[in-house]
Amino acid sequence: MTDTKKSATLTIGEDSYELPIFSPTAGPDVVDIRKLYGTAGVFTYDPGFTSTASCDSTITFIDGDAGILLHRGYPIDQLAEKSHYLEVCYLLMNGELPSAAELEDFETRITRHTMVHEQMHNFFRGFRRDAHPMATMVGVVGAMSAFYHDSTDINDEWQREVAAMRLIAKVPTIAAMAYKYSIGQPFVYPRNDLDYASNFLHMCFSVPAEEYHVDPILARAMDRIFTLHADHEQNASTSTVRLASSSGANPFACIAAGIACLWGPAHGGANQACLEMLGEIGSVDRIPEFIARAKDKNDPFRLMGFGHRVYKNFDPRATVMKKSADEVLDLLGIENNPKLQVAKELEHQALNDPYFAEKKLFPNVDFYSGIILEAMGFPTSMFTPIFALSRTVGWVSQWKEMIADPQNKIGRPRQLYLGETLRDYVDIEKR
Ligand code: SDX
Repeated sequence: MTDTKKSATLTIGEDSYELPIFSPTAGPDVVDIRKLYGTAGVFTYDPGFTSTASCDSTITFIDGDAGILLHRGYPIDQLAEKSHYLEVCYLLMNGELPSAAELEDFETRITRHTMVHEQMHNFFRGFRRDAHPMATMVGVVGAMSAFYHDSTDINDEWQREVAAMRLIAKVPTIAAMAYKYSIGQPFVYPRNDLDYASNFLHMCFSVPAEEYHVDPILARAMDRIFTLHADHEQNASTSTVRLASSSGANPFACIAAGIACLWGPAHGGANQACLEMLGEIGSVDRIPEFIARAKDKNDPFRLMGFGHRVYKNFDPRATVMKKSADEVLDLLGIENNPKLQVAKELEHQALNDPYFAEKKLFPNVDFYSGIILEAMGFPTSMFTPIFALSRTVGWVSQWKEMIADPQNKIGRPRQLYLGETLRDYVDIEKR
């Protein structure tokens, strides 16, 4: 960040305080309040962090008004069109697109880390078969710190690199195992002859009883879903990973914390919640009823898969995802899937309703990813695990950046206290 030599003047009563202003390479200036409490004795107040920059970063930039998403400067639509997930992983982790040799080495290293320790299979058997796959993932990814002790020292750059590679490589295997366990089918080992997306589809959908051939259109759509979910600056789960790692916790524990946060329906759980909502709507003739509920201030119902904290324009990922959804639905057909028919009509009605335009509530990435995953045959319970495995590279990239930042210190927000002031204990006889 560049010190603009500009400053903001904060006046409190008779006193004025100069706060430095820094300028980014893109996006809004920031007012540096790090010394505010020490000099003025006041906190700033920003629940939900709508106006707060928690860190500086060079990985991802979002302009919500313009609908722009850049990964290391490259626009998401170009990456989704021309690149593929593992190359985007390299870019996010290292800051530059790889040469052919660098990419081949990276992909080989990831491929050779996709198996998990055989004893980890036992973890799954401790869960009920109907456990949500996200519960299993939080548990098993967190337990990786019990198996991969040789990559938990965050002060060792090589161990940080190994932990990052292991997580990118193994989280899809764990997600697929969580799915297989939930449907009572045997685990399918990763295959080194398949690309990352095909390998995931194979681990999810193949059975020992017959050959499973990955459709290249579905593999491309799967890879694109991974790419479009890879990173998204300081969203709730990434901020969780940063806050957890600020205490020095090991990378596997921090990523497990990120998975736990992503699970929420307001965040990564929205794709599952969106498909469940489409099921609840049931048929296109009930769409107006639900749109009316979404507009009703007295009704807590929200259209899941719509709206975004940052994008007050169309989410650029949704634009690409919509194109992918149309390709997959053309291939697989929606005639016999009422949820997909409702989705297409809901999108049409919402995009043409002045309320949603005025509130800037457009379909987000979760709306279209849910449709594609439903069409591919994933149960809704697997939607957020797929988001989690896609976002693992974003979490580990932001984690690596934070650990390497000399300004890195434990995150410890303050509060606006509205509770009781000092009072003495009252013996029970006198209450
Ligand atoms: C992701 O942060 C990220 O980058 C997240 C993510 C990523 O890649 O990491 O992009 C992934 O989480 C995408 C968002 C997925 N969530 C959903 O689809 C759940 C439904 N969406 C909403 O819950 C909501 O839009 C949020 C949580 C996404 C954003 O909420 P904000 O920014 O806090 O906005 P808000 O709640 O203040 O709402 C602003 C207004 C409100 O009306 P008023 O009080 O101003 O009258 O818009 C209304 C809200 O009632 N509103 C909606 C709505 N979302 C907001 N009304 C109906 N349906 C909705 N979905």
